[in-house]
Amino acid sequence: MITVETVTDLRHSVAGWRAAGQRVALVPTMGNLHEGHLDLVRKARSLADRVVVSIFVNPLQFGEGEDFASYPRTLIDDSDKLISVGTDLLFTPTVTEMYHRPQAIQTKVEVPGLSDLFCGASRPGHFVGVATVVCKLFNMAQPDVALFGEKDYQQLMVIRQMVQDLSLPIEILGLPTVREVDGLARSSRNGYLTDAERSIAPALYQQLQRSVEALRKGNFVIASLEQQAMARLESEGFTPDYYAIRRAEDLAEPTADDKSLVILAAAYLGKARLIDNIQITLE
Ligand code: PAF
Repeated sequence: MITVETVTDLRHSVAGWRAAGQRVALVPTMGNLHEGHLDLVRKARSLADRVVVSIFVNPLQFGEGEDFASYPRTLIDDSDKLISVGTDLLFTPTVTEMYHRPQAIQTKVEVPGLSDLFCGASRPGHFVGVATVVCKLFNMAQPDVALFGEKDYQQLMVIRQMVQDLSLPIEILGLPTVREVDGLARSSRNGYLTDAERSIAPALYQQLQRSVEALRKGNFVIASLEQQAMARLESEGFTPDYYAIRRAEDLAEPTADDKSLVILAAAYLGKARLIDNIQITLE
């Protein structure tokens, strides 16, 4: 694996591979890699001749008072893990390499509508930051395919919409969430949990499963299912942010005719903001 910090070096390697007719996959990350990321890299390995992974803690997607400064940076460990799953190139740009100009006047990519809901409502500007950095990474690495985890379901939708709207010639692949044995979705932010919080954390996924059961049994009073879920999470020690049962395709409120749904949830547990979701197809 080679590690490069500059766009020039990244482009140089990728240009050589492309000239040789090789297919390139990109896995964008913010580092502190876990099994979910490694799954993406393994899948990328099976789809392309060359696998590029980026590690960049993107200031543009963090709001004021959020965890940009304290976000775990574990480059040495991450590099070892990436070597073990067959990464060809690790791209670790600095903030100034990615953004030459101050944030306020940096050109940005916005996917309106989708970006304003749920995580976007709680974290204003977050998805502009995500879309902008992912668009830049796509332009830098020029991948044929890029892979993302479904844990960030809304993020994946925003990226798919951006690719479609900007006619980017890149296939976007989402992979299922990787979970701990007790169901907790793997996340770089799980490290913020204290032991006591860690023992409560799986209740978020359990609640999603409970809602799936209710929907399967024909309970389609969406607003009351959502309210019950929020109340239950609160009683279990979370500070819920949102809990929403939506149409999987466009995150609109579902009607009784909609069969393909997604339940999206975010809740604080101490310092950690946990997000999770579950997709469901009704008979
Ligand atoms: O999911 C993440 O880790 C980040 O939002 C991403 C896609 C790497 C953009 O910074």
